[in-house]
Amino acid sequence: MTDKVLITQKIYDGAVCLLDEAGLPHHYNDSDETLAPEALRALVAEATALVCLLPNRIDTAVLDAAPHLKIIANVAVGYDNIDVTAATERGIVVTNTPDVLTETTADLAFALLLAIARRVVEADAYMRAGQYTRFELFPEMLGVDVYGKTLGIVGLGRIGTAVARRGALGFGMKVIYTANNRKEAAEETLGAQRVTFPELLAESDFISINVPLTPQTRHLFTLAEFRQMKPSAFIINTARGPIIKEADLVAALAQGLIRGAALDVFEEEPLMHPGLAQFRDRLIVTPHIGSASVETRQNMSLLAVRNVLAVLSGERPLTPVNRVQ
Ligand code: GLV
Repeated sequence: MTDKVLITQKIYDGAVCLLDEAGLPHHYNDSDETLAPEALRALVAEATALVCLLPNRIDTAVLDAAPHLKIIANVAVGYDNIDVTAATERGIVVTNTPDVLTETTADLAFALLLAIARRVVEADAYMRAGQYTRFELFPEMLGVDVYGKTLGIVGLGRIGTAVARRGALGFGMKVIYTANNRKEAAEETLGAQRVTFPELLAESDFISINVPLTPQTRHLFTLAEFRQMKPSAFIINTARGPIIKEADLVAALAQGLIRGAALDVFEEEPLMHPGLAQFRDRLIVTPHIGSASVETRQNMSLLAVRNVLAVLSGERPLTPVNRVQ
């Protein structure tokens, strides 16, 4: 069977050019609308490689419709949209796009942290509405300091460590973290301290979520966890929406259990819980733009296509997430 690549949604055209240069036929949905599941199942029947994005749910129904597939290249570091176990059973390589987006995503986490602490979004709206009429020492819009506060990182992996570095070295923050293993390098260079999850909840002024979505991390934050946080604390989520039970976050904000939240990801994307909209000053929301800089989205596209080229030419993938015989 001749190789054929299916690309489900618009990616960086320069990455698609690599397929042209390699003479690989492809079906490219050069659109911001992703393929509907039925269209995906129909088109994947002919494909030996699939380049997909987070809105594509690559489940057994898709895999059953794809008898020739050798590789699924997700243009994202997270791959909870893919049934990796089922792909592995079928001998299909799954790849993601780590590293190229680490610093960009950490930048957004920190941008959200600063913006929610210093009420930047709200202040912008206030200014545009002509509400700034005189300088006051204690205006209505007082924020809180970031410098010297305690930053709790849930998951000190690549992105979590990049967030911790910004906090420790840029803002003199005390960094505490939870992770499956001790991170000696971060402990030495950033003074990060590994703590238990309840300790992290109780001690952090800012919590940054940087774990993947797994059955263990789904609804890691519910009302019970918000109750253990400081009422002055903020939570920042640039990982995956379902790690926070959104209805419980609404309740926690309404009851004043925590001070605020800044979210780039949501439980039922592209929607957010309707109850969140009421919190104007204590909530910032962005539309899943963690890795959304021009350079990084280009590099993610290139890495995904390079994984395809490697696998289709019988080489090892650059960034596999499974091991296939
Ligand atoms: C984005 O959310 C990613 O996983 O890369």
